Amino acid sequence: MKKRFLPLFWKFSIALIFMVVVFGSINIYFIRNSVYETFETELLKHSTSKAKMIADMAIQPLLYNNITSLNEMVSNVKQTDKDLAYILILDGKNHVIAHTFYKAIPEKLIDANILKPGEARSTVFIEDVGNSDNIVQDVAVPILSVNIGTVRVGFFEAGYQKEVRKTTIIFLWMVVIFLVIGISGAFIFSYIITQPIKTISTTASGFNLESLDADKINKIQLQNKFVLGLKKVISIDDELDTLIFTFNEMLRRLTTTYKELQSAQESLLQSRKMASVGTIAAGLAHEINNPIAGLRNSLRMISEKPERYLSNQEYISMMKEAVDKIEKVVNGVLDFSRKHEFVKTPVDIRQIVEEVLMLAAFHLEQSSISIIKEFPEKVPPIMGSANHLEHVILNVVLNSIDAIGERKASEPEIAGQIVFNIRIIRNELLLEINDNGTGIEAEMLDVIFDPFFTMKKIRQGTGLGLSISYNIIKEHGGDIVAKNRNEGGMQILIKFPLTT
Ligand SMILES: Nc1ncnc2c1ncn2[C@@H]1O[C@H](COP(=O)(O)OP(=O)(O)OP(=O)(O)O)[C@@H](O)[C@H]1O
Ligand SMILES: [Mg+2]
Repeated sequence: MKKRFLPLFWKFSIALIFMVVVFGSINIYFIRNSVYETFETELLKHSTSKAKMIADMAIQPLLYNNITSLNEMVSNVKQTDKDLAYILILDGKNHVIAHTFYKAIPEKLIDANILKPGEARSTVFIEDVGNSDNIVQDVAVPILSVNIGTVRVGFFEAGYQKEVRKTTIIFLWMVVIFLVIGISGAFIFSYIITQPIKTISTTASGFNLESLDADKINKIQLQNKFVLGLKKVISIDDELDTLIFTFNEMLRRLTTTYKELQSAQESLLQSRKMASVGTIAAGLAHEINNPIAGLRNSLRMISEKPERYLSNQEYISMMKEAVDKIEKVVNGVLDFSRKHEFVKTPVDIRQIVEEVLMLAAFHLEQSSISIIKEFPEKVPPIMGSANHLEHVILNVVLNSIDAIGERKASEPEIAGQIVFNIRIIRNELLLEINDNGTGIEAEMLDVIFDPFFTMKKIRQGTGLGLSISYNIIKEHGGDIVAKNRNEGGMQILIKFPLTT
């Protein structure tokens, strides 16, 4: 299953916002509760102290049984506090003897809060007192002792609730501001943290060793002006700066190593080419010796009978041919063994095959291997480096010659054959090189492209031929595979992309 992708920036932001919101919500809950509690306590304190004050003021009139004075006192006190709903003075038997109601005392109020003997205070909440839908906090305190009487004061909660609401709203605003700052902070923080990582990630994914040279490496750094500016202001390095530095250093080393590897590969290719030249050297000597023998013969004939003008003309043209042949062979070897830059030009693959067959001509002849070329009439050019491709095909041909030789050792009646076949399929040119040599065990088919893998018995191989060939073909954007043919022997299939 394909894994879903969420950029680091959003992961960071979501995590931080989540934390800010959870923290903010817990804060709101606790702040709200504590504000409520504080105000409840304050209200209770206030109403108790008011009740106690009235109790003190009520002692004297009560002792003198001066009800009028009591009523006057309570209505005076009530006027001083707008949150006071009522004041009741009760005698020792809990009968109301003075109150602040203009009319009768509401029924539900009378026995709502009875102070038990010895109790210092009793509090109850009463709803819907009179025609007000306010909740009232009724606090009862004794006058000297319960036996003399009780003072009950009712306080509207509404006033306090308003205060509570006001304070809660202020706190809520604070939390909202905190959330806004927190969330913006979370975004900025995530941005600062993830931007360098994103730069590194983009650089890494778009990193192409081929198109990079070591000098350009230093330019890979934070491109983002905002983060760069911020870092300048803070001007203190952190792990991210170390990461960028290390990353750049790593890229620089990687590129240098890659360049070194490339040059090592080139040297390897060059020595492999020299090894191939070594292999075909005997054949080349033969290729050159034949025309030289012809030259010598012609020279002898001319010098023996210099007066025979007509036949000497014939010898001279034979000498010309011999010199041309020598020149062709020598040039072919020189060109093959020279160090060539890997430059792609349009290449006719048939031409490459011909060059290789010329280089390997003696070997093929000596091993009595016949060559069959099955080429279509029109072969489009491929984009490639002719010299490198020559090396690939020569190596394949030399391998085939060896494999055929090995098979002949046990089956001398076999007539060696190498068949070249070119096919165009869609946007690809396929070059098959088929031999009727030993072939190889199926499980070895992939391994033969590994560096230093060799099973050569006839002559010592380096085991680098096919591995270098593989790299060359890959650099051409193509592919090279080996398989055993049903009729015996091996087939090397090389695919080249065709650019239209
Ligand atoms: N046409 C073939 N038939 C059978 N075996 C082959 C053929 N081509 C290659 N191989 C096997 O693959 C091995 C690796 O080939 P490769 O060209 O890489 O190295 P090599 O030929 O052994 O050494 P060098 O190329 O240096 O002479 C060979 O040793 C051989 O065993
Ligand atoms: Mg080889």
